[in-house]
Amino acid sequence: MQKPIGIFDSGIGGTSIWREINTLLPDENTIYLADSFNAPYGEKPREKIIEFCIKNTELLIEKGCKLIVVACNTATTNAIDILRNKFDIPFIGIEPAIKPAAINSTTNSVGILATKGTLSSSLFAKTSEEFAWNVKITEQEGTGLVTLIESGKLHSDEMTNLLHNYLNPMLDKNIDYLVLGCSHYPYLVPQIKEILGYDVTIIDSGLAVAKQTKAIAEKFELLNNTKTTNSHQFYTNTDVAVIKQILKDMHNYVQISHLNF
Ligand code: DGL
Repeated sequence: MQKPIGIFDSGIGGTSIWREINTLLPDENTIYLADSFNAPYGEKPREKIIEFCIKNTELLIEKGCKLIVVACNTATTNAIDILRNKFDIPFIGIEPAIKPAAINSTTNSVGILATKGTLSSSLFAKTSEEFAWNVKITEQEGTGLVTLIESGKLHSDEMTNLLHNYLNPMLDKNIDYLVLGCSHYPYLVPQIKEILGYDVTIIDSGLAVAKQTKAIAEKFELLNNTKTTNSHQFYTNTDVAVIKQILKDMHNYVQISHLNF
């Protein structure tokens, strides 16, 4: 089916998930919404997060999407059940990959960096209780990180300082895995590696989400089997410059526009 896969995030971070989906499913058309105007979701009350998710979903459905990827941990952990009940379309969500970290940790000490909204969600509490009861988990809210990325300050002294503040205590706790529980954070991996060194394995959920997207598309017979030139539309409700910068290696391949939503 040629209809696009819809993807949304509170901003530009979910483009890290879009990259994984596009690599695994290169024949698919996609539409991406960056709700940067309302970022960071992670600092907002749950009712607001739900309201934003409904608005984004309605727009993607209006644009003809056949399934929706909620490329935001904060949105998934707070709103995906509500979206699934309200809309008659398959949803794929993203959650922190706490299970593989807990299974593979040999120091029995795992760090997780995520937003306040994700760490305080009942879905995250349930997942940690179920899959990570046997390891010590150091939770760290990444307050400020999304805002810096959204303002084009991925590489800045402010970012370096925040990362040191958040990650140094994890080194003291001898973590051997760091779980990135926010789709913005994969863009920070080189900087995080500089701080944590190469003995700590960093994991995120991008590839798992792409595999799940493929599985759901197969199950509902939604894959695009036609060999047409594909289209990748990115919409942001703030300045296009920041998303253009994060997708600078993709300019010949994607279309980026401003849209009020
Ligand atoms: N990319 C979002 C996530 O995965 C960031 C949330 C926010 O806007 O605070 O959680």
